[in-house]
Order: sequence, then C-alpha cells, then structure tokens
Amino acid sequence: MTRTIWWEDNQVKMIDQRILPLEFEILSYNDHHSVAQAIKEMVIRGAPAIGAAAGFGMALAALQSPAADRDSLLIDLTGAKEVLDAARPTAVNLSWATTRILELAQYLVLPCADDIRSAVLAEAQRIADEDVEINQRMGAFGASILPDEVNILTHCNAGALATVDYGTTLGVVRAAAAAGKQVHVWVDETRPRLQGARLTAWELMRDGIPMTLIADNAAGMLMRAGRVDVVLFGADRVAANGDVANKIGSYKLAVLARENGIPCYAVVPTPTIDLALAHGDLIPIEERGWEEVAKVGSEQIAPDGAPVYNPAFDVTPHRYLTGIITEEGICYPPFTVSLRRAVAAAEARRGDGATR
Ligand code: MRU
Repeated sequence: MTRTIWWEDNQVKMIDQRILPLEFEILSYNDHHSVAQAIKEMVIRGAPAIGAAAGFGMALAALQSPAADRDSLLIDLTGAKEVLDAARPTAVNLSWATTRILELAQYLVLPCADDIRSAVLAEAQRIADEDVEINQRMGAFGASILPDEVNILTHCNAGALATVDYGTTLGVVRAAAAAGKQVHVWVDETRPRLQGARLTAWELMRDGIPMTLIADNAAGMLMRAGRVDVVLFGADRVAANGDVANKIGSYKLAVLARENGIPCYAVVPTPTIDLALAHGDLIPIEERGWEEVAKVGSEQIAPDGAPVYNPAFDVTPHRYLTGIITEEGICYPPFTVSLRRAVAAAEARRGDGATR
C-alpha cells in the first residue's frame, strides 16, 4: 500500500479514510486551510497521521505565502499554525508538529525567505519519515513481550492508516506476525465512526493477519471467557503521569481487562506524550456532531431531534495500564519517571533540544 499521506508535486496527497473500505481514493491539497478542513472532517485521522498532515500543512503555508522576507514569512507561518492547531483538539501530535516546524523556522539563521521555505518542507518530510521509523521500532519492542500464540483485542484504528505507515498498535501486531508468532486480533467495531470495522479490518485482511470483527459490546464477554490474552490500543495524548486519552471506549476496555486479569498496554510514539499536562483530566476532549451517533452511515436510526452527546475520546487512568509501549522501549510505572526518560531518549536520538 502507498503511505497514508505524502508530498508530491508541491501538493499534499492523502487517502480518503471516510470512504474506505468501499472506495479507495487519493485526495490532493494545496493550501493549509483545506488541510485543516480535511483533518476536521477525518479524511485523515489518527494522532500521528494528523501530526504529519499538520507538518505538510505548514509546508504548504510556507510555499503559498507571498512573503519576500524572513519576518513576513514567520508571521504567515504563525497564522497557519493557529489554523492547523485548531482542527482537532485532543491529539497533541498536531501542535507538536506545527511547533517543531515554527521553532525551526524561527531559529534558522537564513536571511532569505526561500531558504526557509525549503527548510520547512524538509522538516515536514522528516516528521513523516520519522513516524514510520518510530512505528517500526515500537513494533519490535511491543512484539517482544507478546507470547508465541496470542489473542489481541484492539480498539479503533491505530494502524498504517492512523500513521504515515506501519501503525502503532497494528505495528506491534505486524511485527509479531513477521516474527512468526501466531497472532489473532479481535477487532472492536468502534462506534460511532466504525474505524475498527472499516479500517482495522481492511488493513489486517490485506496483510493476511487472522482477525475477527466484534461489536464493541462483545469485548467483556470475550475477556471473561479467557479468549483475550492482551488488550492493545493507541493514544491521542498521554499526560505526564501516564493517563491516556484514546478513542471513546478505551477506558471501558482497560477496566474490563483489569477485572479479568488481562494485561493492557497503550502503544504510544513519544510525540503523543504531553509532559506539560500533569494528569489526564487536563486533556481537552473533542466533542463531535450528533449525526455520528444518531446515524449509521448515512441512515438515521434515532428519532428526529433525539439529544445526543458524542465525546470522541476518553481518558484511561494510568493505574489500569500494565505499560506504555514507545519507540524508546516499554515504560512501566511510575510513568512520571519512565515517560520523561522515553521523551528525553527520543529527543537525543533526533539530535534536537526539546520542542515542548
Ligand atoms: O478519531 P480518530 O479516528 O482520529 O481516533 C484515533 C484514535 O483514537 C487512535 O487510537 C489514536 O489516534 C492512535 S493512532 C496511532
């Protein structure tokens, strides 16, 4: 498969995830406003993928800016960052990527606006390439702790489609399968937008990895019956204490896993860790439109006018997590210490100072 998002001919290209698996279409974008709109509408979704989109959005803003000098270009980039950061509130990867690019542009001692434009694009490309590398490293760490025969339960889509390629949670699954482990995945359908049924099932079937699609409500019954060995899910933002914000329903899975003595891990690239937030209750939770709940696909199933509450994410308190799998190794409690170490190791690997 092609990457989820890439740069080509001075445009950003993305797979349209709203219509998978029934249709496969690539969309092209040439300004940062339309990239922000694509993130809002979930043409592209998943925390690392929208981080990469925001990075390329900054590159488009640099390219489109009429600025002839450094200071004017920085003003335009600052404006673009505000637009992109506002697209979705929970995934910190978005502002992590725009901050990284803006700070690079600010600290460069290049007087010429065109040189800054080139550097911004190169950094956006680096963010995308690094994401794939991070996922492969994380996959290897995650696979190493799985038994040789394993039934994994996943939620939402934390696969290649949620990243630039390979995936976080599905990266662990792919690495385990490649290492010869007998992997079977229980795929939560993930109401309301059905990322599990539409995207995770599609990815696993294309790779020939054994999977079974389940209604979200079947997870507890399967755990109690001893048919789940480990729960793995991704994250949109992890607070400094290890509390994890992820797709709505993740919290319920973690509590059920604890009740049934099943290990539960979040699979988290370090750009998703927000050390600036002490705990998960400080993470902004996106609320989305009524129609996602009141309809299935385009068909309305609830009575006209039924009041709807549609939080897109929930927070799993860190005490329910066995560990957090990162590209720098597996973090165990106390997460306040292990996460800080992982972030520092990642920054050292990139050879940069902290961007946050
Ligand atoms: O609303 P979505 O589809 O963007 O939510 C995605 C998730 O919750 C993923 O689990 C998370 O972003 C991690 S993706 C590697």
